[in-house]
Amino acid sequence: QKLEMELDSIEKGGYEHFMLKEIFEQPRSILDSMRGRLELVAGHLNMGGIRAYERKFMNADRIIIVACGTSWHAGLVAEYLLEDLARIPVEVEYASEFRYRNPVITERDIVIAISQSGETADTLAAIELAKSKGATIFGICNVVGSSIARATDAGAYTHAGPEIGVASTKAFTAQVTVLTILAMIVGHKRGTLSDTRLQELMVELGSIPAKVEKALLLNDEIELIAETFKDVPNFLYLGRGYNFPVALEGALKLKEISYIHAEGYPAAEMKHGPIALIDENMPVVVIATKDSSYEKVVSNIQEVKARKGRIIAVVTEGDTVIPPMAEFVIEVPATSEVLVPLVSVVPLQLLSYHIAVLRGCNVDQPRNLAKSVTVE
Ligand code: G6P
Repeated sequence: QKLEMELDSIEKGGYEHFMLKEIFEQPRSILDSMRGRLELVAGHLNMGGIRAYERKFMNADRIIIVACGTSWHAGLVAEYLLEDLARIPVEVEYASEFRYRNPVITERDIVIAISQSGETADTLAAIELAKSKGATIFGICNVVGSSIARATDAGAYTHAGPEIGVASTKAFTAQVTVLTILAMIVGHKRGTLSDTRLQELMVELGSIPAKVEKALLLNDEIELIAETFKDVPNFLYLGRGYNFPVALEGALKLKEISYIHAEGYPAAEMKHGPIALIDENMPVVVIATKDSSYEKVVSNIQEVKARKGRIIAVVTEGDTVIPPMAEFVIEVPATSEVLVPLVSVVPLQLLSYHIAVLRGCNVDQPRNLAKSVTVE
């Protein structure tokens, strides 16, 4: 018995749960996913997987991203990245919808399939469909040799290491890291990302592991916030731009492991529905880092406040505008707008983790969920 407990604790690296261990591994897993790709000294980026497909990426009419769950959220971040940096139109599809609706696909399309496990049945079927229409399939998988990795024409692995917790954390940030590098390479090749901007972004990307490390120092503070909200029935998560997918991911994490109903929404879209839910009992997590939509998000915070919603704001360090409006403020290090999801998602992972633990939930193996969904 004692030995079993000790083995269990060794496996979890001294953490109480795999999920917490994996959240804390992110500085490392992000770095590992950049290794050999981000060459700061030489000043260039590498990605073996796209070398043979550079022309395809240069001439692509469109990129279609297919994925499920958290990987789909990484796909949404990639939509912003690829359109912003490489100016290629992107569509992000739930694999399960894409495969059943007779989608328009041509040989000039590139399909990017994102999957941690590489075994998700719907994602695999979406790939087979796109392949049969002649599209080029690029995979972003974590598990080497997995079915999806084998079904693609080319790809780039995330190097997150094994992810055991059912709720995905380090796989998400590793996927976003790889997709960022991909968008930067393609953008630079297509001439939509200048040399100077590329160099700036490379330096900033190189500093992300340290910034994530810093965000992890918020752990104790977030545990206290979790204490306050552990018994609420609902949560709303709002973000705009690059933080919109982060809002979706924060809400997904919370519902997966704490069984609290949570909705992620584009902050501006709130007024077309969710605003009706806001009263003095409704916690609203707003991701409001300093970026191009900052002013707009501040107005959305005011809209929530006017209806007495309880605001938990994720802000950039040093922000003085939002703190007086919020019940709780979580400060994350500043970074470039295009890289912000890698940092802003971390406190949301921690918040869902602590709420779930305080509610006595089985964090690593939540009810009704599977780590990889190999059925349709
Ligand atoms: C399941 C897991 C999620 C994951 C999703 C997609 O629902 O519980 O954590 O995001 O599948 O999995 P994949 O392995 O394809 O990324």
